Amino acid sequence: MAEMLNVALPKGRLGEKAYALFETAGFPCPSIKENNRKLIFENAEAGVRYFWVKPSDVAIYVERGAADIGIVGKDILLEYTPDVYELLDLRMGKCRMAVAAKKDFHDDLRRTLVVATKFTNIAQTYYTSRGRDIDIIHLNGSIELAPILGLSDVIVDIVETGTTLKENDLLPVETIVPISARLIANKAAFRFKNAQMDAIVNSMAKQLEENA
Ligand code: PRP
Repeated sequence: MAEMLNVALPKGRLGEKAYALFETAGFPCPSIKENNRKLIFENAEAGVRYFWVKPSDVAIYVERGAADIGIVGKDILLEYTPDVYELLDLRMGKCRMAVAAKKDFHDDLRRTLVVATKFTNIAQTYYTSRGRDIDIIHLNGSIELAPILGLSDVIVDIVETGTTLKENDLLPVETIVPISARLIANKAAFRFKNAQMDAIVNSMAKQLEENA
């Protein structure tokens, strides 16, 4: 009997879609659909255990081996560069990392640009590559407030539908990088649980082809 596979799923709609891919790949766990506040669900017969994890924490569980495999946004991989294998682009949870500003914003190259963001590494790398001096303000959420209140000149944040920017009178200025959900694996588990990992990657790749 193969060892139990531990899967970290991001809480929310993306996690539910990702679970469906695992289910089809031969790792069903019907109890996960129960409407309760439990965070761990197990199907011993199928050899799988699922955890609902805060999306930005999935990579930590996988990097440290508390989970063997997980689903995470490319934004988190770029920001924190966890030491994990990126196995597959799931082509879901699509959005982009963008610079946004107030409608009347004009970049004055003589001044240091003040950037508010949750993604300080992504922002720093982006502006360094362009040779632009910046001053970063790290915020944890509601980033859109920063330029409106004069806390920053621009923001670097995730844009999905663009509704949040629009409703706060901000405009996207530049796209930094497109983002989507990725299947990641713990490096040691990738070797020790290779049969399960292979089955998952092959099945998911096939499922994505069929739905393309
Ligand atoms: C993200 C992001 C934007 C919003 C973009 O926020 O920070 O605020 O989604 O989506 P939209 O383009 O479809 O409007 P999230 O909901 O993750 O919360 P946060 O404010 O804590 O970052």
